[in-house]
Amino acid sequence: MKLLWILRILLYVQTLLGLVRYFGPSVGLLLNPRLWETHISLGVIIALLAIYALRPLPEVPTAPIRTVARFLPLAPLALGLGFLAGLPTGPLVIVHMLLGLAAVGSVEMAAARQRRALSAASQK
Ligand code: HEM
Repeated sequence: MKLLWILRILLYVQTLLGLVRYFGPSVGLLLNPRLWETHISLGVIIALLAIYALRPLPEVPTAPIRTVARFLPLAPLALGLGFLAGLPTGPLVIVHMLLGLAAVGSVEMAAARQRRALSAASQK
């Protein structure tokens, strides 16, 4: 459960960094490049952590949302690494942001399901 907390916090930090990077310049807010670089390392950590933290567990029923949440962070990561490799940004940045937000939502849903399953199991 602790790992899921860490994963959720990292996803919110990631979202915040992304939103500031995207919308910040229009309101005069520029991210320090060092701080922005953490978006890349956090991206890799988040993708690996999601695969581990959302692995099948005997006491948590396997629901499709758990599998989606487990692997979805790989999609914005792949696109983000594509940007680094020279993929043109433009509208793809919007796709990247939506995939990132979908990853946040699916991890939230999977974490809530796990919490309910574990508390039901502990009341038996
Ligand atoms: C699991 C979630 C995410 C992962 C793994 C991820 C990963 C990455 C990576 C590796 C890059 C390339 C770094 C660079 O261009 O310097 C990137 C760029 C970016 N990301 Fe994310 N990201 C995620 C979520 C988000 C979210 C939720 C947002 C905003 C809502 C966001 C906004 C951006 C923006 C604005 C860029 C810069 C694109 C450009 O070069 O213009 N990211 N992301």
